[in-house]
Amino acid sequence: MTATNGINDNPITGTMHLKIVLLGPPGSGKGTQAKRLMDELRVAHISTGDLLRESVKAKSELGVKAKEYMDAGKLVPDELVIALVSEKVSSLDGGFILDGFPRTIDQAKRLEGITSIDAVINLNVDEGILVERLTKRRSCRECGAVYHLLFNPPKEEGRCDKCGGELYQRSDDTESTVKQRLRTYRESTLPLVEYYQSKGVLLNVDGGEDISEVFHSIMKALDPLM
Ligand code: AP5
Repeated sequence: MTATNGINDNPITGTMHLKIVLLGPPGSGKGTQAKRLMDELRVAHISTGDLLRESVKAKSELGVKAKEYMDAGKLVPDELVIALVSEKVSSLDGGFILDGFPRTIDQAKRLEGITSIDAVINLNVDEGILVERLTKRRSCRECGAVYHLLFNPPKEEGRCDKCGGELYQRSDDTESTVKQRLRTYRESTLPLVEYYQSKGVLLNVDGGEDISEVFHSIMKALDPLM
């Protein structure tokens, strides 16, 4: 699996055409589950967080603008993110998992002008658990793999099991920024649960179980669509 600019195209042939949105608060396991689902369903994975972090790393015009919002635990302005996703989704042939997009009602409406969505998986996790998950998360600088110091530790401290890359702590995973990100989620993203419920595409999943258990619950919820 190769991570390129926040979009992972699965090389396995026979790609499925499911178009899925992963919804949930910071730390609910969107990225962790998206990577597993990408392999299982043979679809692309588009993470707006990863795309934005790539832009920050590259110090592009978008990255410079996005960084101040990300470090403050706020959402990057809709126009910037929509342009990013629109370009990626339009370049795809098969199905995909959108991880971290849409995050506002406006983004959801704009997405409808670009593509249809088959299912929205909503990962429900108690807020107390989220802070612990995020402040002990470690990510690989090279391939983007995600670990947790307690729940999903790497075999060798500080090194990625998959590619040997260096593990680091995201700058927005400090306790105070995590709390602001949770406030932003409640204010701007939570209304999407009702929005997608009313459209009949919402699938609620308990994201508080262990990683494999959550994966099985998602697959079970998606079963009628396959
Ligand atoms: P983004 O990178 O998308 O961050 P997020 O939504 O806050 O979500 P996270 O990546 O923090 O968590 P996750 O749900 O993916 O959890 P993970 O699987 O890593 O966005 C970052 C920023 O970019 C935003 O704050 C915003 O500024 C900007 N942005 C992005 N998209 C935007 C948009 N559409 N519009 C505007 N701005 C946007 O898991 C977390 C940890 O828990 C890991 O350590 C993992 O190992 C562990 N874990 C996962 N599942 C379990 C489990 N079941 N049990 C135990 N541990 C688990």
